Amino acid sequence: MKPIKVGLLGIGTVGSGVFEVLRRNQEEIKRRAGRGIELVMVSRRDLAKAREIVGDHAQVVADPRDIIRNPEIDIVVELIGGYTLARELVLEAIAAGKHVVTANKALLAVHGTEIFAAARDRGVMVAFEAAVAGGIPIIKALREGLTANQIQWVAGIINGTTNFILSEMRDKGLDFEVVLKEAQRLGYAEADPTFDIEGVDAAHKATLMSALAFGIPVQFDRAHVEGITKLQAADIRYAEQLGYRIKLLGIARRQAAGIELRVHPTLVPSKRLIANVEGAMNAVMVQGDAVGTTLYYGKGAGSEPTASAVIADLVDITRLHTADPEQRVPHLAFQPDELHATPIVAIDQVVTSFYLRLQVADQKGVLAAITRILAESDISIDAVLQRESAEGENSTDVIILTHETVEGRMRAALVQMQALPTVLAPIVSLRKEELA
Ligand code: NDP
Ligand code: HSE
Repeated sequence: MKPIKVGLLGIGTVGSGVFEVLRRNQEEIKRRAGRGIELVMVSRRDLAKAREIVGDHAQVVADPRDIIRNPEIDIVVELIGGYTLARELVLEAIAAGKHVVTANKALLAVHGTEIFAAARDRGVMVAFEAAVAGGIPIIKALREGLTANQIQWVAGIINGTTNFILSEMRDKGLDFEVVLKEAQRLGYAEADPTFDIEGVDAAHKATLMSALAFGIPVQFDRAHVEGITKLQAADIRYAEQLGYRIKLLGIARRQAAGIELRVHPTLVPSKRLIANVEGAMNAVMVQGDAVGTTLYYGKGAGSEPTASAVIADLVDITRLHTADPEQRVPHLAFQPDELHATPIVAIDQVVTSFYLRLQVADQKGVLAAITRILAESDISIDAVLQRESAEGENSTDVIILTHETVEGRMRAALVQMQALPTVLAPIVSLRKEELA
């Protein structure tokens, strides 16, 4: 059978990995796919750089639309990134009857509903394994491997840049800016690193996982997003003393009122495997009613790990493109007309436990006033730690871990505690998850 023909829109970090791995493993891949997968065209504005990567193994063009217009191309791989041009190109490729593979989580988290509907109308596939957790086959797990389950929650370290930053800051005592530059040099960080450090990239991925896990449309605009830029070294240290590590988690959880969809720095017990995921590695935990807790671990970014996921999609499409479109695995795991409008709950309805750090005057009755507010707010304390004051110092830190409560209740209590004259600085509050 003649090889399936592929064109790459964009050949940078991920695109060059796709070229390299496809070439290196072509025989093995062909044995799996049932026919060859041939990269015949690539596009990039810097033609010289593109030629440097592919030599004379593929045609190089500056205009990505030359690939979409080419009737020989069966699969278009979008690896440019961003929302605007990428959206136009993906929709044009679909309209031209091409199957699409993309690693672009931003695009799908924001425009996924439109793109999947267009693909369905045209009878083509849009595959996106690389869009969440890079080389970890988490989309495959959620869409196929766990299909028997009612999924209860998904929680993951799904941004390598921030995990790398948090690990290096803790282990080596390095400054945030220094570690961020290194993450960019290593190719983990997005072109605009604000997306990484402000939690936006993780929220794109959590949005996609929430849709796959619960059969809801992608709703990035409903996600609660907090990054790591305000995190202080003192809290990383106190958390360690209490047996926790701070990780930027993307969480999607089913609860009575709807679905929680949130990204924020989170205390996780140090004894959990996921708390020990270091550097740029990613890990995703999925809890299903039948399977229990599962954990998926691996490289979430980088040239070849991401290429591994892109090529897995190419193989899937090669195997399935002649199948009846109705018989293919649905884009979002559930049949499109079975997606439910289950609401994403507002952050003040989220149920979680908390870490609080209060800088207080070191005097009688301070702790009693704080604990009274918590008790009157029906918030139960799990642990308390008070730093011993240094000689001559008249303030200290009180750290409180709470049991689970509704976030709105905690926010109201925080307002009351902050108003105490003995509380000397803005209270730090972080969410804590046991992930048991
Ligand atoms: P890069 O910036 O390394 O590559 C983007 C490529 O697109 C470059 O080759 C660029 O070349 C090309 N490009 C940009 N604009 C155009 C245009 N108008 N026409 C043609 N080509 C264009 O990005 P990555 O490879 O890192 O990322 C690609 C996608 O994969 C993104 O969506 C990213 O979020 C996602 N991703 C990346 C991961 C990673 O580890 N890097 C991991 C998982 C997902 P030129 O400027 O010369 O045109
Ligand atoms: N910037 C992303 C990260 C790349 O750091 O995880 C992978 O999506």
